[in-house]
Amino acid sequence: MAIQKVGVVGCGLMGSGIAQVAAASGFQTVVREVNAALVEKGLTGIEKNLNRLVEKGTINEAVKVEIRGRLKGTTSIEDLKSCDLIIEAIIEQLPAKRELFAALDAICPPATIFASNTSSLTITEIATATKRSQRFVGLHFFNPVPVMKLVEVVRTIATDEVVYEEMVAFGTKLGKTPVRAKDSTGFIVNRLLVPYLLDAIRALEEGVGSIEDIDNSMKLGCGHPMGPLTLLDFVGLDTTYYISQIMFDEFKERRFAAPPLLKRMVLAGWNGRKSGRGFYDYTDPQKPKAMKF
Ligand code: 3HC
Repeated sequence: MAIQKVGVVGCGLMGSGIAQVAAASGFQTVVREVNAALVEKGLTGIEKNLNRLVEKGTINEAVKVEIRGRLKGTTSIEDLKSCDLIIEAIIEQLPAKRELFAALDAICPPATIFASNTSSLTITEIATATKRSQRFVGLHFFNPVPVMKLVEVVRTIATDEVVYEEMVAFGTKLGKTPVRAKDSTGFIVNRLLVPYLLDAIRALEEGVGSIEDIDNSMKLGCGHPMGPLTLLDFVGLDTTYYISQIMFDEFKERRFAAPPLLKRMVLAGWNGRKSGRGFYDYTDPQKPKAMKF
């Protein structure tokens, strides 16, 4: 079955990025949010991104109009039932995801493929909310979705081989490089990235280096586009804390345990760039200033 129409549930940071990339790759795309204001917010963000691409000359106005024409926002999950593939990018909570997929399972034809963009929950456990575990995969994208070239395509022990290969091919059609991963908590990227980010916080806690020096070390010494503490602020400290708890719960290994400083920053609401403060102060977003602890 060729995928022609893609549904995306959630039009936040990840959902809007996935919807933008799907529409830009030629797929009819329907993106659903819980209310009209959130649909509007998500679509406005996509519009801004597309305008920036026009300004830079990456695409022309006509292409922008075509992409926008393939993209429809909705608040109704009924509008997703004609989609060949539905990708979920809602809040990272198992009960919410299971509830959504059970509702979609009840209204979608048996052939529809379901995918979750979860970064740390178990795909198998989300899939069992439906009667179509064989047509269920993980499609894990990276922030910012229009820029990052990777998609992790995650299979469970129940995923049908043909469906899985179709999703790998879909990843390529989106212009991404798909990697194949088992349904193991954190998949490939977070399995490696989360201990690294947590170690950077531990290095800061132990006074190994300052915030700027830890970041510059990995940027200039290893060629990373962002240092680990900047990346933590970018991903969200609350998000990283949540993922680390799920991974620690699964593996019971210290490398996944949240350092006390991370916990305290999240308790204080210092969640990084989105909250204006994390390891850096973003009062002037163009010139973040390292915090003093
Ligand atoms: N949306 C669309 N395009 C964006 C963008 C966004 N949010 N942010 C940046 N861009 C584009 C810019 O327009 C620019 O495009 P151009 O080269 O065509 O002009 C390009 O990306 C580079 O942007 P900038 O010049 O503004 O800034 P940088 O060179 O510093 O790049 C970055 C920004 C791409 C975010 C880069 O710093 C980077 O790659 N950082 C690491 C990001 C990363 O590791 N992401 C993964 C996080 S982990 C995750 O998502 C998984 C989860 O489970 C935790």
